[in-house]
Amino acid sequence: MKAGCSQLKPVLLVLILNLCFYASYQLNELQVCELCSGAVLNGTAVGRFCSSSAGRIDGRCCLKNDNTSDPERIIGLDLSNCSLTHVEDLHGASTALMIDLSLNPIVNISDTAFQGFIELNYLILPQDIVCPGGNASWEKVEFKEGNRLCEGQRDMCNQTGQLSINCPENSICAPYGPSFFECSCEHNFHGYKCLREGEFPVLLVFGPLGVFMVVISFLLWVTQRRKVKSL
Ligand SMILES: *[C@@H]1O[C@H](CO)[C@@H](O)[C@H](O)[C@H]1NC(C)=O
Ligand SMILES: *[C@@H]1O[C@H](CO)[C@@H](O)[C@H](O)[C@H]1NC(C)=O
Ligand SMILES: *[C@@H]1O[C@H](CO)[C@@H](O)[C@H](O)[C@H]1NC(C)=O
Ligand SMILES: *[C@@H]1O[C@H](CO)[C@@H](O)[C@H](O)[C@H]1NC(C)=O
Ligand SMILES: *[C@@H]1O[C@H](CO)[C@@H](O)[C@H](O)[C@H]1NC(C)=O
Ligand SMILES: *[C@@H]1O[C@H](CO)[C@@H](O)[C@H](O)[C@H]1NC(C)=O
Repeated sequence: MKAGCSQLKPVLLVLILNLCFYASYQLNELQVCELCSGAVLNGTAVGRFCSSSAGRIDGRCCLKNDNTSDPERIIGLDLSNCSLTHVEDLHGASTALMIDLSLNPIVNISDTAFQGFIELNYLILPQDIVCPGGNASWEKVEFKEGNRLCEGQRDMCNQTGQLSINCPENSICAPYGPSFFECSCEHNFHGYKCLREGEFPVLLVFGPLGVFMVVISFLLWVTQRRKVKSL
């Protein structure tokens, strides 16, 4: 993929680079759907959810677009009975509302496996695997048919009682997956700890090189936002 993108005239390069980023994102999504063979079956939790949401099944995924101008995104992922032992990277499916990992000999789920899964509201796990972030990150945890169900992701920014989340000045707390939150800078502030005021310098740079710089600046900006989150 990357090799195919080189050897192009600089003018085209930026455009092509963007296309390549997009393509590798798509590839990533598809890889999650092909993590194991077979397709989502009608009778399963994800199958029922998919047909009730009018989604489209592709391998182990249920895909849907909000409207015809938007690209399709993964709303359901069924990796049930897939012989998975470790769950580390499912990030292609970070838009999913429902994920089924039941009937797998899972020994370990990485703490960050569901970081960024802000929509995830229904997770089915083998009975002995705890819900990501622990019980406190979910409205309801129950056992059913030998599985553990984690239902209703709690908003970490709205925890009355226990730990109160303090984002730095000029930033707002936003959910970022079970047990995670991020502090994003308020409008007109940016940079480390949102200390810099003024418009983000997107419009200062024009031209093909400019577009490339914008992509880089954006990536840096995102990295900095993440840094603030881990305070
Ligand atoms: C699943 O449902 C679809 C649409 O309702 C149907 O076309 C398909 O045959 C069903 N598949 C199975 C295995 O029952
Ligand atoms: C499609 O979705 C986008 C973003 O969610 C929204 O801005 C736009 O108005 C929608 N278009 C229609 C026709 O609903
Ligand atoms: C799990 O997969 C195996 C082989 O792929 C199959 O024989 C078995 O029936 C499946 N079990 C369930 C509960 O679907
Ligand atoms: C689970 O993963 C963590 C870190 O990735 C590792 O330290 C730990 O030993 C693993 N536990 C098992 C049971 O594999
Ligand atoms: C989490 O909730 C489940 C189901 O209610 C319960 O069995 C388990 O003991 C709880 N775990 C902790 C650490 O509180
Ligand atoms: C915060 O939580 C309370 C009770 O859990 C709820 O009534 C309220 O709507 C929540 N606020 C937000 C912004 O989610």
